Amino acid sequence: MTDRNDYKLTGILGWPVSHSLSPLIHNFWIKKYNKRGSYIPLEISPGDLTESIDACKKLGLTGVNLTIPHKEACLPILDKIDETAREIGAVNTIVFRTEGKTVGYNTDSFGFRAAIETNTNAGWNLFGKNAVVIGSGGASKAVLHALKIWGAQEIRITNRTDSRAEKLALELGSGCKFWRWSDRNKALADVSLLVNTTSCGMVGQPPLELDLDLLPKSAVVNDIVYTPLMTSLLKRAKARGNPIINGLEMLLHQARPGFKAWFDIEPKITNDLRKTINAALVGDLK
Ligand code: ATR
Repeated sequence: MTDRNDYKLTGILGWPVSHSLSPLIHNFWIKKYNKRGSYIPLEISPGDLTESIDACKKLGLTGVNLTIPHKEACLPILDKIDETAREIGAVNTIVFRTEGKTVGYNTDSFGFRAAIETNTNAGWNLFGKNAVVIGSGGASKAVLHALKIWGAQEIRITNRTDSRAEKLALELGSGCKFWRWSDRNKALADVSLLVNTTSCGMVGQPPLELDLDLLPKSAVVNDIVYTPLMTSLLKRAKARGNPIINGLEMLLHQARPGFKAWFDIEPKITNDLRKTINAALVGDLK
């Protein structure tokens, strides 16, 4: 017999939220794994965040994702913050526990690492190697967190506004080096991984100004921008023979822990899912 209480309502709180791809990803998995439930986008203004999280809890939602501008603002509101989320300073996944506690997690760091690991040759590892991260915004913090626990030898951080990169490098401590924006091209020598966490290359934004000449041809290049999937950085990297990973991979992988926590199943990233999201992205870009 079907248990009437096994229906799970989940969603995403954002402002704006209409362009979020998370409803597509989670509803794809709900259908694929025959789960009873739904994932809905909820447009919540910054001033309504506290009441909305409370309402979600009272309405019996299983959990929600958070996107801009709520990821940092929710920290003081939640009952408990997971260690990774605290270190990154942002929450993107909330679980409403049955005993009434609201717990916040950050799955972006996991998503980034999983995206790289599943799209590189078996055995590829960052341990003892150098990486360079372009940008010092919220996305950069999650990427840096992953690189640090991965055991990279040297993590180079560079950002258009030097002071932001310098501050981040200081906060992260040993193994993290600040590189001036004017020296960014030189930071690419001897690295095994280059990650763009800026909005450069996104539709409507200027391309990333970065000279790839010193980048080893074996270095993996990852752009976290996914509109478009093939940014100018990825096109240039591919043309000179570097392995590339597009921004859709991190987006898909960061969704996995939330789905697992809410629906108690480890969802798979399949080509069918990629095709579904790709089709939506192409539609959005028209
Ligand atoms: P997010 O939280 O998504 O990372 P963010 O905090 O607004 O967003 O950060 C955007 C990043 O893109 C920043 O590193 C920003 O550089 P600044 O700190 O100098 O603002 C970077 N960025 C945006 N436009 C840029 C451009 N035209 N050239 C270089 N970097 C740019």
